[in-house]
Amino acid sequence: MSKKIIRVADALTAESAMSGITVRGWVRTRRDAKGFSFLEVNDGSCLANLQVIVDEASPAYWELGEAQNGASVEVKGDLVESPGQGQKWELKGQELKVWGAADQESYPLQKKRHSDEFLRSIAHLRPRTNKFGAAFRIRSEVAFAVHQFFKNFGFFYVHTPILTGSDAEGAGEMFRVTTLPQGYNPPNPAEPYAEDFFGRESNLTVSGQLEGEAMAMALGRIYTFGPTFRAENSNTARHAAEFWMIEPEAAFFELEDNMALGENLTRAVAWHVLENCAEDLDLFNKFVDTELLDRVRQLATGEYHRVAYRDAIDILVKSGKKFEYPASFGLDMQTEHERFLAEEYFKGPVTVYNYPKAIKAFYMRANDDGETVAAMDLLVPRIGELIGGSQREERLDRLEGRIRELGQNIDDYWWYLDLRRFGSAPHSGFGMGFERLLMLLTGIANIRDVIPFPRTPNSLEF
Ligand code: 4AD
Ligand code: MG
Repeated sequence: MSKKIIRVADALTAESAMSGITVRGWVRTRRDAKGFSFLEVNDGSCLANLQVIVDEASPAYWELGEAQNGASVEVKGDLVESPGQGQKWELKGQELKVWGAADQESYPLQKKRHSDEFLRSIAHLRPRTNKFGAAFRIRSEVAFAVHQFFKNFGFFYVHTPILTGSDAEGAGEMFRVTTLPQGYNPPNPAEPYAEDFFGRESNLTVSGQLEGEAMAMALGRIYTFGPTFRAENSNTARHAAEFWMIEPEAAFFELEDNMALGENLTRAVAWHVLENCAEDLDLFNKFVDTELLDRVRQLATGEYHRVAYRDAIDILVKSGKKFEYPASFGLDMQTEHERFLAEEYFKGPVTVYNYPKAIKAFYMRANDDGETVAAMDLLVPRIGELIGGSQREERLDRLEGRIRELGQNIDDYWWYLDLRRFGSAPHSGFGMGFERLLMLLTGIANIRDVIPFPRTPNSLEF
């Protein structure tokens, strides 16, 4: 039997009626009336369900038994104009096959509404809910928008390693990778990794930046977009132990260019979701955050502010606002400070630049004032830091000096320093947290709810 298989998204937006089509998906709800039944079928292709009507005259009627909530079904029938309210099309079912039944007593998604906490405990089933289905469709669409943006601007997508020997951030928040057995004692304590897989210490990457710089020094403009791992023990709604990061790196870019790139990227993806994810965005605007659409529109078309760190601290000090941690020059900004700047003071995205060197990573380019580095963070409402980046130190002597000053082993950086020995050039880049971007674009308040299988301290179900 030949099948004309149609996705629900395409059926619902059909230009005209279609006969003899097949739809496959999962039953969301079922209502039985005298002489016929309604099935709401969702196949994940869009938020809306396709209403399937099965009347007792059709052979499908006799297969309805197991077509209950959660069951997977295949329905063949005619797409006809729906006389009912709320949908243009419905499927008049003729043949019905239940591929997999779902026990109605134990199926966990029977209720209409579940708490986010409960749904996190069934991460394997939650994509079948409206909210998480929408979140993960938007996730896919935003990833596409990111690739499209960089392609348009001549950036090449490169893959940097996940297993690495370097600590790109120098923050020591790495997951170690080893094949040595538990309780292993090295015969020579001075060489604890001699018998390990790589014969040296290895970790999961905290950032692809350093390798990204090597690629940018050859391809000009590159970006990475991959998983990143941080063993920070911060149990906040904005930190995950495994998250995805977008990291552009561009030769000959100075801080100004870098700030513009971060702003333009944010603007472009906001624009893209408005144009391509309207139905899913509406759901979040209705049920999760009623200011979402205004905010995303502002990100797409509104102003992006810039302020030097020094002036930002002044603003915070003079604000008269009681912060849990008072702001002062030389201290890292807390989320409460970042959010005040973006939400209350600038009322929109703002890039803070030229941070004190003491609170930033070793690779950032020293400014002439001797006190600050050419760092930049893009802060956004509700999230705080969305982007962190800098112009890189391209001067060999300066960079070596900084690595020594921080008490790091210069030999570990031999290849990174080579980039400054052979054809060094000014260059810049940044990292944008993909999950934080998704929180911004969906209004979802917890990072655990924008990644399918979240990893956070003490939480790794499977
Ligand atoms: O500011 P970060 O630490 O910068 C870097 O890693 C640089 N090497 C990036 C670069 O210049 N190529 O991280 C960049 C962004 C943050 O602004 C934040 O959005 C996100 O990554 N991020 C996290 N997202 C989720 N969970 C975490 N634990 C995160 N840590 C950082
Ligand atoms: Mg940062």
